[in-house]
Amino acid sequence: MNTQIQRSTSRPSLLTAVLLAVGAAVQAADISTLKDAYKDDFYVGVAINRTIAMGTAVRADNVNRHQEQVVKDIALVKAQFNQISPENDLKWALIQPREGADGYDFGPADAYVNFGLSNHMYIVGHTLVWHAQTPNWVFAGTNPPPVMENDSPGGRRFGRSFGYNGPRASREELLQRMHDHIATVVGRYKGKVKVWDVVNEAVADTGTNLLRNSLWLQIIGPDFIAKAFEYAHEADPDAILRYNDYSLENPAKRKKLIALIKSLQAQHVPVMAIGSQTHVSVSSPSFEVEDQTLTDLETLGLPIHITELDVNGAQGGQRDSGADVSENATTTQGGLVSDADQRLAKQYANLFKVFLKHKQFVKVVTFWGVNDAVSWRFGGKPLLFNGDDQPKPAFDAVIKAAADDPTISH
Ligand code: G3I
Repeated sequence: MNTQIQRSTSRPSLLTAVLLAVGAAVQAADISTLKDAYKDDFYVGVAINRTIAMGTAVRADNVNRHQEQVVKDIALVKAQFNQISPENDLKWALIQPREGADGYDFGPADAYVNFGLSNHMYIVGHTLVWHAQTPNWVFAGTNPPPVMENDSPGGRRFGRSFGYNGPRASREELLQRMHDHIATVVGRYKGKVKVWDVVNEAVADTGTNLLRNSLWLQIIGPDFIAKAFEYAHEADPDAILRYNDYSLENPAKRKKLIALIKSLQAQHVPVMAIGSQTHVSVSSPSFEVEDQTLTDLETLGLPIHITELDVNGAQGGQRDSGADVSENATTTQGGLVSDADQRLAKQYANLFKVFLKHKQFVKVVTFWGVNDAVSWRFGGKPLLFNGDDQPKPAFDAVIKAAADDPTISH
């Protein structure tokens, strides 16, 4: 299986040799992989699904790949990326679907970590505490739920894909479950998983409240975030502990995120990196908005990880002014925008120029999926490779952005 990108092999042709002789800058243009192009800047990673981690065409992550496609996907991941994140298999609902020490399904998660170890990749864990993809038993107990106005079972009050309205655990019970889960999962992969998304998407999208009205918040109170970080630090003192959220390009949401992290820092909570998901579109953010986003985040003095990068090319997903990713960024309705490939390439070039400008802080850039066919928003064809694992013009644009980086001498 040839895993190299055909268009730009690293074997120097006569023409290449001549060009190399005349200008060192041209040398960089010959680089054919993302991980090599950015090796002096940051990790370039990818979220992998279960088929890739396990090497079989199982149905998971809403992905339906044939075995030959899985083999190609794996080859592409190995060729192009030096960091991996698990798209779903380390989330609570997948790794501990049932209560107690016997309630864990470690198989897919072990396969994920072993994939990273055998391919010498920087391994990220995603995610420990989230309002979504958490089983109901985690929140269940004997305390009657409070009566709320406009209560809608399964409604958006608790965020997408989640709505448990039954009798609840006490604060102490929920903290105990959180502690046991984090100690077990982080402890199992101690020294192997280098970075953890400890708390995911806790900031409120809209309104004046700082935090999302999740069951974590309602049952434990706002210190559920600090507790999660403390438990994770206890389980692996060497792991980089990340707070991860989306729509940080939106100034109002970014302001809340910064207020949250500052307050955690004031309490000496071990938050060690900021994860900016960066589910964006071909229309926004502009270079200036992304530049401002990273400039503002840098005031926290922490490394920044671009954790879930993809660029929506669907017509329905271009209204990025709101902060709520579930209302806009997921939308892949209406077919692609015209000139989708070119606009995608332009936007990716834009974004990587900003990441390079901020490379003192940006340490990881992770694409959320290996190709358009396996992407959670496949209708928006948001990635660098098509469903046949062939590079799109956006791939060349990202490679070129590295070669053009004005801050390095090639
Ligand atoms: O686990 C069930 C399985 O039991 C069932 O048979 C199957 C039937 O469709 O569904 C499985 O659940 C799926 C789950 O992934 C795990 O595989 C859900 O349908 C599917 O909607 C879910 O989607 C994931 C989504 O998170 C859930 O919110 C996406 O694949 C994943 O890309 C996406 O990733 C999130 C990040 O974790 C956090 N930031 C936003 C990002 C995009 O939404």
